[in-house]
Amino acid sequence: MKLTKLHQEMLQGKHGYAAQKSMEILNALGEIYEAERMVPVTSVQIAGVSYANLGEPGLDWLAQMAEDGQVRVLTTLNPAGMDLENWRVLGIDPEFAKNQERVIDAFAKMGIITTCTCTPYLVGNLPHFGEHIAWAESSAVCFANSVIGAKTNREGGPSALAAAITGFTPEYGYHLEKNRQAHIIITVKPSISGTAQFGTLGKVIGDILDANAEWTIPYITGISVANTDELKSFCASIATYGGTALFHMDGVTPNRTKIPKENIIVSENDLAQAEKELNEEDAKIDFVSIGCPHASLREIRHIAELVAGKHVKKETWITTARPTKQVADRMGYTKIIEATGIKFACDTCCVVAPIRGRFTGLCTDSAKGCYYGRGRNKFQTKHCSLEECIEEAFAE
Ligand code: F3S
Repeated sequence: MKLTKLHQEMLQGKHGYAAQKSMEILNALGEIYEAERMVPVTSVQIAGVSYANLGEPGLDWLAQMAEDGQVRVLTTLNPAGMDLENWRVLGIDPEFAKNQERVIDAFAKMGIITTCTCTPYLVGNLPHFGEHIAWAESSAVCFANSVIGAKTNREGGPSALAAAITGFTPEYGYHLEKNRQAHIIITVKPSISGTAQFGTLGKVIGDILDANAEWTIPYITGISVANTDELKSFCASIATYGGTALFHMDGVTPNRTKIPKENIIVSENDLAQAEKELNEEDAKIDFVSIGCPHASLREIRHIAELVAGKHVKKETWITTARPTKQVADRMGYTKIIEATGIKFACDTCCVVAPIRGRFTGLCTDSAKGCYYGRGRNKFQTKHCSLEECIEEAFAE
């Protein structure tokens, strides 16, 4: 791999310890994936923020990097293990909270914007078409590559931090146009609408791709319209079930690709079967969570319209980015929603927060939420529309 003078100086430690370690990581990655050069990045999103995932070894490493490391590009964080302000209301253990704050402090010391969200594109970390970026969270990576048309691999926590500190990433994988071409046409026959249905579709297509190693990038036809909320739900789901980091959606997404020859049809039956798999029979629901990926202002406004004047019967969280909630505060949506007993959980989500064992069954409009709710937190799951989630929250 060709390194410039600046890259070599970083490797030699002339720009400090953190830049040296970062360039070592990026150089090693570049060698492994046979990159020819580094490309500058304009935006970074770092995952591995929850203390539950990092533990003391991860925190030690961050603290070392924070000794002299400073990020060179706009960098935000993935959700943390708790709401950084209202963790007590959500029942988070004070010891865990103390450690989570140490993690956030280390990131802040490096100049990282401590907005913890999987929807950075909704709150100001928004690259444009064709820009090279280094993002880590799978749904955000899929959104950035597919919906925005920016270029990113799915980074791990250390490689994303390394890109932020150096301002570079090795040019391989999805940074190269030749690796962004579709492999299979997927034609969707039923009409799809709403975040839950788009999540179900993401599972159907994700499962198809997961079963066929040679197809990683689909060219999806049959979807005439999809709003940002539906696409964020779809991205989360297809990335979860298919490991997909890039798709093309005819008439909806901006990338150009050669059209593949093989075509697979998604039918009403396929959707019904996936929906059945997302729903456990007789799931005992005692927890409702909306906002996976993090809820948008439009979703929060819609929830405020649905719940005004009622009183919630089940523990219910709306997970969102703090800047989104701050706008909701100003618009009065938060007040209406919180008056019902529904809680906001900013900076975190029902998957990364340490809530295993606290609930039996999760009701959500997120197909990704069902996957991790079951796998990580051992919840039974019910998957339904946002409106039905709200009904569940108010049902005895
Ligand atoms: Fe975001 Fe957590 Fe879902 S990180 S995509 S809300 S699992």
